[in-house]
Amino acid sequence: MSGLDRKAVENIESPLAVQVDFHEEIGSTQERARELARGTPGAPHGTIVISKVQKGGRGRLGRRWGSPPGGLWFSLVLRPEMPAHLASRITQAAAVGVAKALWGFGVEARIKWPNDLLVVRPGDLSGRKICGILAEAGVGNVPAKHPGLGVDHRRLDFVLLGIGLNANLDPEDLDVLDRQVTTLRSELGRDVVLTELLEAVLSKLNAELERIEDFCAVLDDWRALNCTLGRLVRVERFGEVLEGRAADLTPEGALLLETPEGTVEVFEGEVKHLRQERT
Ligand code: BTN
Repeated sequence: MSGLDRKAVENIESPLAVQVDFHEEIGSTQERARELARGTPGAPHGTIVISKVQKGGRGRLGRRWGSPPGGLWFSLVLRPEMPAHLASRITQAAAVGVAKALWGFGVEARIKWPNDLLVVRPGDLSGRKICGILAEAGVGNVPAKHPGLGVDHRRLDFVLLGIGLNANLDPEDLDVLDRQVTTLRSELGRDVVLTELLEAVLSKLNAELERIEDFCAVLDDWRALNCTLGRLVRVERFGEVLEGRAADLTPEGALLLETPEGTVEVFEGEVKHLRQERT
C-alpha cells in the first residue's frame, strides 16, 4: 500500500510527530498548523499536520501549490530554542534533511538556494523541482531572556515548516505551467510507500534540527548538496534584479553574489540559474 494511512502516520516514532493532525482534504496544512500553534494551549513542538489533498496549498511568494492525491503535503509546528534572528537557519537545515532523505530513496536531489529541491539532469540548465519548503516564523512580542542577546532580539514563538514533496504523481498532475517539475514516480519509475518516505524525511529533518547550533556543519552539507554555487544567477528581491556569480554562503547562510558592482549579500529572493559558467 503506497497511499497515506492515518494509523501508520500515528505510529511513526519521531520527535517531529508527537501529535498528528491527519486530514483527507484541507485548505492548507500551513494555515491549520498556524491555528494550532496559536491556539490555547498552543500545539507542542513536533505537531504534524498532514493531508492527502490540499485545496489551497501555498508556496513561497504567495504562489499557489498544487497538492493532489499522491503527494506528501505536511506542516510541522516547531518550537526551537533560538532567537528569532536565527530562524532562517531552519530553512537551510530543512533542505539538507529532505535532500538526504531523497538520496536514501535513490533520488539525487540538489538544493537551489535557499531551499528548493531539484533534480538536475545532465545538460539541464534549471533543473526540475521535486520539493518545496516554506518556513514561516511566529515571533512573540517579548524580548528573549537569553544572556548575551540584545533586547532587540525577539523570542521565537514557533516556526511552521511546510513541506510539499511531489511523490506518487506524474508531473502533469501538478498543473504547473511556469516551472519545470518532477516527481519521485517519474524519477524512480515506481511509487514509494508514503509513510516510509515521511518517516525518512522526519528522521533526517530531526537530525539536522538537532545539530543546528553547529550551523557550519549544516552549511557544509548544504554546499555538498547544492546546485547554485559557482553558477551565474539572476536574483529578484524586493522588485530589484541582480545578476552575478553565486560565490559562496555567509556563516548564516546568505548568498554571496559577485556582481560587476561588487559582492552583495542576499538574504532572501528568488534565484534563477543562468547559463553555466565555463571554468
Ligand atoms: C515553495 O514555494 O517552494 C514552498 C512550497 C511549500 C508547499 C507546502 S505543502 C504543505 C504546506 N502547506 C502549504 O500550503 N504549503 C506547504
